[in-house]
Amino acid sequence: MRFSREDWEKNFAGYYKGKVEFNAPMRGHTSLAIGGPADIVVSPEDPVSVKNIVMLLSRLNVRFVALGGGTNILVTDRGIEGVVVKLGAFSRVEIINEEDARAELFVEAGAMLQKIVNLCRDRGYTGMEGLTGIPGTVGGAICGNAGSCGSEMKDVLASVVLLHSDGTLDRVGVEDLDFGYRKSGVGGTDIVLSANITLRRDDTDAVTLRTENCFKQKKAAQPVSGRSAGCVFKNPAGMSAGRLIDEAGCKSMRIGDIEVSGIHANFFVNLGKGTAADYLALMDAVSARVKERSGVILEPEIRIIGKE
Ligand code: EPU
Repeated sequence: MRFSREDWEKNFAGYYKGKVEFNAPMRGHTSLAIGGPADIVVSPEDPVSVKNIVMLLSRLNVRFVALGGGTNILVTDRGIEGVVVKLGAFSRVEIINEEDARAELFVEAGAMLQKIVNLCRDRGYTGMEGLTGIPGTVGGAICGNAGSCGSEMKDVLASVVLLHSDGTLDRVGVEDLDFGYRKSGVGGTDIVLSANITLRRDDTDAVTLRTENCFKQKKAAQPVSGRSAGCVFKNPAGMSAGRLIDEAGCKSMRIGDIEVSGIHANFFVNLGKGTAADYLALMDAVSARVKERSGVILEPEIRIIGKE
């Protein structure tokens, strides 16, 4: 079912607090700055509004997709039918327990991951140093099990609160989720509303130094200021997708305004007016060259959403 302003006003207006955009270009909601319009983008301001809207959408059989910071996705040029529920407008971060050796944090899904990395750096909590420099929200980082420089989201996570599409809530321990390399097992119509994170205490200067070193490494090895969606392909077991793409001679290959970064070959950068069609064509061209050169079949890491 498509969704109009009238449908919204008839069904939702009283149940929801937050921003609503109709026919909203997704390029304004993604780090790649690519993507056609979504029928509606809602940015609920509190968990109750998320719950109300998800329940109503399910009841009306309207398709919806949850989005964090939009930093690891490619939205197609034809855009998204249905509703995008953007989880960035509630972002509480609280230290709920602090002992000599460890601390526990409560974080809402919309908090920026870097806010938490910085809190850890400043208070001497260890476990998240390697996640420095990764854009986006903590909800997105949990769903994709973000990882870098030896840190991974799953290693600091204690539990998450999940909202199911029927409006019920569940607190699920990390051991009951299906975490793996860049996957959490959470997704589909389940939404992460908040999480508890457990961290070990360390010397503040040591944590700060490790965080700064990881950030320096990233700045030197990745196109951190370019418009990208992070790594395009997953690393095949025991190999680096970036190195394979580089060795296949793809650095600086370009289709339209999308370019394989000359700094790190597993990043594709939007030079300005890039489209999803260009991005997908470059993914195909690069995978074909890698397959020809090394026989390895690359799998996308980025999530691709929207009408084909
Ligand atoms: N390399 C090249 N050419 C390139 C890129 C890399 O030869 O264009 C070589 C490097 O010199 C190095 C090796 O490949 O010897 C590995 O490179 P790097 O240390 O950059 O790590 P990576 O395996 O390419 C992974 C993650 C990154 C994460 C970094 C740092 C994946 C797909 N990539 O990259 O994660 O930041 O390690 O820990 O898991 C992401 O997932 O979005 C992401 C950026």
